[in-house]
Amino acid sequence: MAAEPRRKIIAGNWKMNKTVSEALALVRELRGMVSVLRDKVEIVLAPPFVALHPVAKAIEDSNLKLAGQNCHWEALGAFTGEVAAPMLKEVGCAYVILGHSERRQYFGETDETVNKRAQAVLKAGLLPILCVGETLAEREAGRTLEVVERQVKGGLAGFGGAEVARFVLAYEPVWAIGTGRTATTAQAQEVHAAIRSQLVRLYDGGTAEQVRIQYGGSVKPDNAAELLGQKDVDGALVGGASLKAGDFAAIVKAGA
Ligand code: PGA
Repeated sequence: MAAEPRRKIIAGNWKMNKTVSEALALVRELRGMVSVLRDKVEIVLAPPFVALHPVAKAIEDSNLKLAGQNCHWEALGAFTGEVAAPMLKEVGCAYVILGHSERRQYFGETDETVNKRAQAVLKAGLLPILCVGETLAEREAGRTLEVVERQVKGGLAGFGGAEVARFVLAYEPVWAIGTGRTATTAQAQEVHAAIRSQLVRLYDGGTAEQVRIQYGGSVKPDNAAELLGQKDVDGALVGGASLKAGDFAAIVKAGA
């Protein structure tokens, strides 16, 4: 039996942007723009934690899904300032972004903590969007694949193939995030293909075929179609351009 084709997944990572009222205004605008696409492409929004609940209400009965931008690995307890996976589940999230380079860079996330968070996410019935990517210095030193493969292996440590198949991976070269400098389609495809063959080696061909690998890093309406046209690019994780309804809708359409 032929495997189902991987459905593209376009996610908007709003980072620390939009108050609740601004978030609702953006969602109202976006909802109408992408409704015609129905389920041709999976669309995910990751607003700041405080906006999750109101945004969940605003996207009821739409083709938009919700994600947290991070979560703690414990289900509850004395961890001031943290948010737990079951809380994200109850508020209506389907996904949680994990190991974003800003979390790794500014908040000390490691492959080990990302892995623990991923366990909590799956246990809560959510799906992880696990981010990996090299810095400019690492790319220039010719270490891109080594760094990315270490992050993939570390993030997925201890999971079996059936669990791994539910992951979304996001390849985000750090030098392309928020810089306006996008990886070329060849650079993106090379790393995506390397990750997929790593998944074949670590698990099996069937698992590797199911895992969706997003590209992230200065994805814009004018480069989205070309990036999303690559064989192993199964979606996009969009930062800056997800803050404008028209831009994000154009990227989503490029994936449909
Ligand atoms: P950017 O961010 O689209 O603003 O480069 C992408 C990301 O950090 O996920």
